[in-house]
Amino acid sequence: MAAETAVSLHQHTERVKAARPNHRGALRQTGTTLATTFKMAPTATAPNVVVPEAPKSGFKAALPKVHSESIIKPTKTVYGDWRDDFFRDGFVVLPNVLSAEKADYYRGKLLNWITGFNLGLDLEDESTWTAEHLPVSFKSMFLNYCAPHERFMWEARCEPGVMDPFAKLYGTDELLVSFDSFNIGLPRRKDLTFQPWPHCDQSPDRVGLACVQGILNLYNSGPQDGGLIVMKGSAPLFEEFFEQLPKEKRFSSPHVHSDFYLFNEEQVKWFEDRGCTQYKVEAKPGDLILWDSRTMHHAAFPMGNEIRTVIYTCFAPASQCSAEDLEKKQALFHRFEGTTHWPNCNMFGQGKAKKGGKRESTEVCPLERDEPIEKPIVTEQIKKLAGLVPY
Ligand SMILES: [Fe+2]
Repeated sequence: MAAETAVSLHQHTERVKAARPNHRGALRQTGTTLATTFKMAPTATAPNVVVPEAPKSGFKAALPKVHSESIIKPTKTVYGDWRDDFFRDGFVVLPNVLSAEKADYYRGKLLNWITGFNLGLDLEDESTWTAEHLPVSFKSMFLNYCAPHERFMWEARCEPGVMDPFAKLYGTDELLVSFDSFNIGLPRRKDLTFQPWPHCDQSPDRVGLACVQGILNLYNSGPQDGGLIVMKGSAPLFEEFFEQLPKEKRFSSPHVHSDFYLFNEEQVKWFEDRGCTQYKVEAKPGDLILWDSRTMHHAAFPMGNEIRTVIYTCFAPASQCSAEDLEKKQALFHRFEGTTHWPNCNMFGQGKAKKGGKRESTEVCPLERDEPIEKPIVTEQIKKLAGLVPY
């Protein structure tokens, strides 16, 4: 298995070298505007796909008691750099925040992690790209098995090229980081029925730009490959959209925590009628994609030849975290547990993977573990980012 992985990594490295641009720093014009409103496909039923649950009576009780004010105040400032693109479009792609070698290192870590379960997954044999050969995931995001706390995950979070853009946006380098995980998207999965799920990751009850999400891209994400689809220009319409929506419908999202809203087709059209466009973001290994949590987005089903490999990273000012949330965050860290992308609030622990990927199951996946395969070296920087010690 290790040799097979090595072959695919070598091939990947060659592709990276061939695709890599010569310049650094300048924004790359990438992506494809999607022409038509997508249709909602039937709900996926594969074993490792979690079908959104019906709303529960306790859902409202799970809403945060106090919602944060906007972290970044609306501004008319012209920065003359990528921040202008970010505030205008609700997202931005920052090229080459990591070198090709570093990107390849992290991609290798991800692929070794998934083949390391020894479930018969062969990265060179597409017939093995099915749920029975994979650990439990949620839409190819591996949220459990202590994955968010693997040493390489903490190394990635501490990369200056990853952290600095967040510090620049927030205007502070005193940041907390989420215990997000990674996504390994195998193309053309035949055991999945793909369902677009246009959503935003911010509660309708929050006002303004409250969080910036990040994807550290580790593969060549072209038009046919799996990747991020954003609704360009939707973030500034977030408040207007929810204001016109009857209050009782604002929190009907069938999700286990509040910072999520799933849009239906009619609602997608509401944004398109106001000039927003769906846009497939393209990126190269080592690029960082940032987006405003109010931006409607979802993922493209991978139909090209690239195995999607991305690490989710999200930072927010430490000053925005309450004492109560800090305590929860510390407990999650000590249990090596994953969170949502929110670094400073909404401390929702992902818990253990359930047997067969069924969330309602009380049986824990037998492949679960109590600690990462390679535990992080907990430096002073990590302690601060995890909220274990103050700045
Ligand atoms: Fe999302």
